[in-house]
Amino acid sequence: MTQKEYKKNVELLNKYAYHYYVLDDPITTDEVYDKLYHEVLAYEEKYPENIDPSSPTQRVGDVASLSFTKAVHLSRMWSLEDIFNSEDLQKWLEKVHRLSDGISFYCEPKYDGASLNLIYENGVLTRAITRGDGVEGEEITQNAKTINSIPLTINHPGRLEVRGEVVIFKKEFERINEERMQSGESIFANPRNAAAGSLRQLDPRITASRNLVFLPYGIGENDLEIGRLSKRMEYIYELGFRAPPERALCKGFDEIEAFYQKMNTERDDYVMMIDGMVIKVDQIEAQEEMGYTVKNPRWSCAYKFPAVEKITTLKDIVLQVGRSGAVTPVAVVEPTPIEGVVVERATLHNFDEIDRKDIRIGDKVIILRSGDVIPKIVKVLTHERDGSQLPYKRPTECPVCHSELLDEGALTKCQNLTCSARVVNAIIYFASKPCLNIDGLGEKIVETLYNEGLIKSVIDLFSLELDALLALEGFKEKKSQKLLDAIEGAKGCECWRFINALGMEHIGEVASKSLCGHFGLGFSEATKEELVAIDGFGEEMANSVLEFVRVNGENIRILEEILTPVEPAQKADVAENPFKEKTVVLTGSMSESRGKIKIMLEELGAKVAGSVSKKTDYVIYGDDAGSKYDKAVALGVATITEEQMREMLA
Ligand code: IVH
Repeated sequence: MTQKEYKKNVELLNKYAYHYYVLDDPITTDEVYDKLYHEVLAYEEKYPENIDPSSPTQRVGDVASLSFTKAVHLSRMWSLEDIFNSEDLQKWLEKVHRLSDGISFYCEPKYDGASLNLIYENGVLTRAITRGDGVEGEEITQNAKTINSIPLTINHPGRLEVRGEVVIFKKEFERINEERMQSGESIFANPRNAAAGSLRQLDPRITASRNLVFLPYGIGENDLEIGRLSKRMEYIYELGFRAPPERALCKGFDEIEAFYQKMNTERDDYVMMIDGMVIKVDQIEAQEEMGYTVKNPRWSCAYKFPAVEKITTLKDIVLQVGRSGAVTPVAVVEPTPIEGVVVERATLHNFDEIDRKDIRIGDKVIILRSGDVIPKIVKVLTHERDGSQLPYKRPTECPVCHSELLDEGALTKCQNLTCSARVVNAIIYFASKPCLNIDGLGEKIVETLYNEGLIKSVIDLFSLELDALLALEGFKEKKSQKLLDAIEGAKGCECWRFINALGMEHIGEVASKSLCGHFGLGFSEATKEELVAIDGFGEEMANSVLEFVRVNGENIRILEEILTPVEPAQKADVAENPFKEKTVVLTGSMSESRGKIKIMLEELGAKVAGSVSKKTDYVIYGDDAGSKYDKAVALGVATITEEQMREMLA
């Protein structure tokens, strides 16, 4: 094969793959494809210096990495406001029309998967970053490259961010779960979890085996001059991405509602799971004018499909003891498939709810599953009773430690602070993702460590020794060392994670971040007045913090000493500078990534916004700045170059 022939063959392979994975319209057989693939591979082994980055051989990474690196998005990845019925739609449209008129709406399915951001530089896929919290995600480029519907190269100069959803088709989801069941692994609850889990595999070969599919839904950073979203998306599909099964440009309420009804009746026939329809203002200029709330674009919303109900039988009611001691009943139902997911458990909230609905074991019940909400029992079919269903008796003792329960009606509590369920759940929570995020320290391992007497509290985690772990069944050297390293890695965590990990009642991730922002580690000395003064903090939350500190002061101190959490730079500490407390917008390409410049400015006390408005203090622009620059000029907002910004700081 000459170099010229090699190039031709790579092109041909990509054409075959495009027809197969993107158009769903194969133009050759597996055999022909495989033969050519191996010829191309043989050529590349001989002339590695000639390897084309678009060659399909470049998809298969075979080196597992140790961890993912965090990556800041060039611009924020937003979430969507949900609407649920035609009244909501009417109201949403009124709101949108007040902000801008003469607009139309681009409608497409809302895919149920995991968001992914692809960055192409001069036509080559250079980075793929998961959504994460919208500002910062994880770089999983090697894994993304294994997804055949993600082009490795595109015919577009400059930088382009393509955003979309990674999904697993329904059939593939069933196949994977079947396989996992046979090999005794836990099954995925739904295609969304399966997609997200498959994307975050340290070994790209596992990701490759899951047959993930990428469906683009938007564009981040770009230099496109196209003024309509629908046209922009057509351009993206032309670059080699998969188009949605259905899309439409709708003018107003009637057209949107009709398209939504059509999609809802047809969704069972779709190869992928969808949970609604996304509506987006088509005119890019209007989008920019409307801007964003703290969480969502004002120019888009997700019109969710109605939840799905099924009839099943309640087989049992089991009890769960949470880390706060709250005992909650959980319904075990006859396994029932709803929308591609087999439901076996449903929430019952609390014992009052059981009484109120007179739920009895053996009853026929209607369960409801809507999107990502845990299924619940919505109705008991009492007319189906045959006399064998007896009223449910509330428990009086803890199912785990057998101490007497405190029954406060809606809330039933095990008051034994050393109840093993409470302790174990507190440790699991401590290690979980939004807390210290200790990899490998999940439910099973915590239970084992606790049952074997190696840990009695979170503090004991930090004096675990290798020899003790090796003595446990199933703990090989590698696994044990990995666990110890992960625990060690929690030291120096961000301050808010430390606060969240304490597990104070009513204090979740958002409240922990606020506490950390206001007081840092000094939160434990905050007074009630100071606590209730925090935005979003009420009396109950403040009392919870004070009570927790009162009871656990000594443990907080010990943990703080072990973990040495890192406090964020306090705004007050930021030295005076021209950008302190100013709102700035970045646009165009700069000498380093805008993500980095954003962090630098934020450290200087600036607020970096995504769109230009009258409130913007500065638009800082690089090469090829586009509409944001024009808008700044139109609004009379100060515009400065990256160099001028640096001079102002010098
Ligand atoms: S647009 C600017 N379109 O839903 C708007 N999102 O609830 C950003 N999603 O994080 C999202 N299908 O992961 C958009 N056709 C679609 C979508 C879609 C699925 C996901 C996406 C996003 C989440 C927002």
